[in-house]
Amino acid sequence: MMKVFLAGHRGMVGSAILRQLNQQLDNGKQFELLTRKRAELDLTDQSQVREFFQSERPDVVILAAAKVGGIHANNEYPADFIYENLMMEANVIHQAFEAGVMRLLFLGSSCIYPKNAPQPMTEDALLTGTLEPTNEPYAIAKIAGIKLCESYNRQHDTDYRSVMPTNLYGPGDNFHPENSHVLPALIRRFHEAAQEGQHEVVIWGTGTPRREFLHVDDMAAASLFLLGLDRETYEANTAPMLSHINVGSGEDISIIDLARLVAKVTGFEGQILIDPTKPDGTMRKLMDVSRLDNMGWRASIDLEDGIAQTYRWFLENQSELRGSGEQ
Ligand SMILES: NC(=O)c1ccc[n+]([C@@H]2O[C@H](COP(=O)([O-])OP(=O)(O)OC[C@H]3O[C@@H](n4cnc5c(N)ncnc54)[C@H](OP(=O)(O)O)[C@@H]3O)[C@@H](O)[C@H]2O)c1
Repeated sequence: MMKVFLAGHRGMVGSAILRQLNQQLDNGKQFELLTRKRAELDLTDQSQVREFFQSERPDVVILAAAKVGGIHANNEYPADFIYENLMMEANVIHQAFEAGVMRLLFLGSSCIYPKNAPQPMTEDALLTGTLEPTNEPYAIAKIAGIKLCESYNRQHDTDYRSVMPTNLYGPGDNFHPENSHVLPALIRRFHEAAQEGQHEVVIWGTGTPRREFLHVDDMAAASLFLLGLDRETYEANTAPMLSHINVGSGEDISIIDLARLVAKVTGFEGQILIDPTKPDGTMRKLMDVSRLDNMGWRASIDLEDGIAQTYRWFLENQSELRGSGEQ
């Protein structure tokens, strides 16, 4: 029976992929699912990874484990970000190859593209300019992951695929007040304002920058579509996968409109104010998803529905939220 190893199954993306793989098993699909907690298998440790691959010999690998964090963590711990990500990628990809794995999916990020890449960003913007300095070490490690996959494919005829997701959100996200990404940060801020009956919420910057968001369940679906656990999807997708592929919703929204959506979902009825003295960051960040679109996959979770579902998850899991310190 086919063995699938999902690395990083407890993370936000990994747990979404795990839910869908479990659903496939419930629906009668035949494969064996392998997972390991970090305490059981530290992916930065070459000998542990080698031993695992040699004894388990999976057929398919999904690499959703990584050291991930916001601007603050990337600034404070650049050595950890580049070292741990390079080690995990090199260990998993090389030991997968050594154990005869022919199919692997590597998860990257949209931060691999240059800071001033033309918008929407196409796959061929890779390595055409200077990266955003705040997370350059992390982005360099992710670019190395893409190049590892490409190189093993070229030299050894493997089929290692790389996917580059846009900003993700959904269950399992980090809602820490200082260390979270914009959407979970807004959900928490508006929730608290609504609960406390505050009359206004101030958002940083002019509110005009535009960002793209994809629900993590859509990301998981796109990953499994591209990996094609069933033969037909896999074979149909083979030809265009020479390098990496963007995964996004293909639509962006201004920060102020996003704040209005979050206010609606959380029941905040006060005023939303902007603070233009605070930095805006990049004015637009949008993925070009036409390659994925041409392959026949499209995001299906509407942003407002996705935010409402994430807000329900936040309410149900408030006592065990993650995201302190380094996240
Ligand atoms: N979230 C986003 O918005 C976003 C956007 C674009 C791309 N991505 C990409 O998607 C991937 C997954 O991100 P995520 O948001 O799901 O991150 P996450 O929630 O932080 O999950 C990362 C997972 O990796 C595991 N891990 C970290 N170091 C490990 C090690 N040394 N050994 C074994 N496991 C280790 C963690 O295990 P523990 O649970 O034990 O710590 C965790 O389960 C990353 O490659 C990231 O670049 C995410």
